[in-house]
Amino acid sequence: MKVSLRLRRTTIVLFIIIFLGFILAQCVNRQGEKKMSGNENATAETTPSVSYSQFSGSAKCAGCHKDIYDKHIQTAHYLTSQPAEEKYISGSFKPGNNTYSYNPLLRIDMEKRDSGFYQVVYYKGEKKKELRFDIVTGSGVMGQSYLYWRNNKLFQMPVSYFTAAQRWSNSPGFPDKVMLDRPITARCLECHVTYAGISSAPGVEPEEYHHDQIIFGVDCEKCHGPAADHVAFHTENTRDTMAKYIINSSSLSRQQNLDMCVLCHGGNIQKTKPSFTYTPGKSLADYFKIDTLSMVAVQNENIDVHGNQFGLLRSSKCFQQSTTMTCNTCHNSHEKERGKTAIFSQRCMSCHTPGHDNFCKLKLSFTQLSKNCIDCHMPARKSMAVAVSLPGEEVPRAAFVRSHFISIYPDETKKMIENINK
Ligand code: HEC
Ligand code: HEC
Ligand code: HEC
Ligand code: HEC
Ligand code: HEC
Ligand code: HEC
Ligand code: HEC
Repeated sequence: MKVSLRLRRTTIVLFIIIFLGFILAQCVNRQGEKKMSGNENATAETTPSVSYSQFSGSAKCAGCHKDIYDKHIQTAHYLTSQPAEEKYISGSFKPGNNTYSYNPLLRIDMEKRDSGFYQVVYYKGEKKKELRFDIVTGSGVMGQSYLYWRNNKLFQMPVSYFTAAQRWSNSPGFPDKVMLDRPITARCLECHVTYAGISSAPGVEPEEYHHDQIIFGVDCEKCHGPAADHVAFHTENTRDTMAKYIINSSSLSRQQNLDMCVLCHGGNIQKTKPSFTYTPGKSLADYFKIDTLSMVAVQNENIDVHGNQFGLLRSSKCFQQSTTMTCNTCHNSHEKERGKTAIFSQRCMSCHTPGHDNFCKLKLSFTQLSKNCIDCHMPARKSMAVAVSLPGEEVPRAAFVRSHFISIYPDETKKMIENINK
């Protein structure tokens, strides 16, 4: 059977032109490389590897850190990859809402069965191929993509879910036809899972994985390091209240703290060592070539706000003129705080003290200023990478992402003041 049917596109098709395009491009680019350079292979052999047995999984942490665990499992981080169970899949399997059509002849139906969830390809009404959902990526803030196993490799499914339109859509960067052979590299997983055991030879891409060695989500041990020893020690020594064998952010330098987030929020960084060998507390620059272009680009507003929170923040005066600011200054990693503007504004005021001359100079009342510093100084900007074509719309509609270039935006201020005066 021929699956890659190249067929005419119809207007009812919701076609994602570029969705996370730049992030995905990194993966795609690297797929072309197949093998890393000899040099990198050499370092691969000398880099101490991190193994599955060093991890314990967050369910164990719950025994002693229940409060943190209970909140953490609600975060976008935890939910950014999970096994394909019904509660994790955003899209609908109800007839009427479970179809993605490429054109009147070719469609994919999302079907729920006793053995799992499937994407089933129909051509002229005839079933041609079926794929089982195995892994969900994306908590669903913007959307979700799904992965399936073929032997020991992972592939991206042709149909994704796009939250803004609340419907199934073509997968990010996919052509307007059924495509079944986009492999998932370890670099893609490195940003969306805590650990994946690689079974293929070092340097070969796309990698093969051990099915039973994947720790889903950006979980506790992604930020605190593999913690099986910590769990074993404290289970044995219940009276010992001095933490052992664990990375504590407060004992790390500013750069080490930043590195912990830049691994995934630093835009287009290129790996120089095998995936999953960097762990918190190490220097990220020993494992990746850090994106240095962004500094100039930010000043020219020529950088995508998607995925490079670090590049944008680093260009802000707040970051440059403070010696302590890290991502943790404003973000509490254990909690879902999306949309809590007043809480974030409080965190701005920990440095910009009301009544002092480093406070906002805009002539508005304190109440008006203090509720929401964010929309004026960190406005949501159109993403260049995330844009979808919707039926009947000429220009692709972009998703909005919060800019981390903290600055003065006169237009945003005008909009805010108009709203206040309404
Ligand atoms: C058997 C109990 C136990 C388990 C299970 C456990 N911890 Fe701990 N943990 C402790 C104790 C005791 C401390 C020290 C007191 C404190 O800070 O709460 C601690 C402290 C910590 C700290 C703070 C370190 C510091 O220097 O202040 C972190 C981070 C941490 N644990 C992470 C984890 C993670 C992640 C897991 C799961 C992989 C986990 N813990 C599982 C008992 C446990
Ligand atoms: C292993 C990769 C990885 C690491 C490390 C990581 N993040 Fe993330 N982060 C992600 C991904 C992926 C998402 C998108 C999650 C989703 O919605 O599916 C995300 C989302 C977020 C969000 C948005 C949450 C929301 O509710 O929408 C914030 C804020 C964030 N990360 C902050 C941080 C900070 C701060 C650190 C460092 C302490 C960090 N991240 C470390 C991968 C990572
Ligand atoms: C460099 C790290 C990185 C790589 C590589 C990466 N992602 Fe992401 N991904 C992120 C971050 C960070 C976000 C959150 C959006 C943001 O910060 O702009 C995200 C968002 C997403 C989302 C939307 C999540 C949501 O809740 O809206 C999906 C789906 C996704 N990624 C899938 C993938 C897939 C599939 C791959 C590999 C083919 C991949 N990503 C590669 C870091 C990465
Ligand atoms: C995205 C990164 C990230 C993830 C995921 C994460 N933490 Fe943390 N954790 C941090 C940071 C950063 C700090 C330091 C916070 C501070 O200094 O205010 C911290 C502090 C801690 C502490 C010591 C301080 C405290 O609040 O008691 C414990 C214990 C802890 N984490 C346990 C966990 C456990 C258990 C999980 C999973 C259920 C987890 N963490 C998931 C980043 C993370
Ligand atoms: C860790 C301390 C710290 C935090 C937290 C902080 N800032 Fe700043 N910010 C600074 C410093 C230092 C400067 C440079 C000196 C000055 O203008 O006060 C600055 C400068 C600014 C400027 C002037 C920018 C320019 O280009 O002229 C704005 C606007 C600003 N901050 C807004 C915010 C907002 C909004 C928040 C919260 C989202 C925030 N800051 C959080 C320390 C901080
Ligand atoms: C000065 C405060 C501040 C600092 C420092 C900061 N952030 Fe944020 N961040 C915010 C605010 C405010 C939001 C918007 C939250 C919301 O919409 O609910 C945000 C949103 C995000 C989001 C979600 C973006 C979106 O629009 O979906 C991510 C991801 C994120 N931050 C990552 C980071 C990372 C990584 C760092 C460190 C490099 C960092 N942040 C540093 C204030 C900050
Ligand atoms: C309605 C939009 C708006 C809100 C809300 C707002 N700001 Fe501003 N802010 C501005 C504008 C516009 C300026 C430039 C004013 C000027 O220079 O006359 C400014 C200036 C600043 C500056 C630079 C002051 C300097 O030294 O030149 C800082 C710092 C700042 N704001 C912080 C904050 C903080 C913190 C909050 C929340 C408590 C906040 N702003 C709320 C619009 C806003």
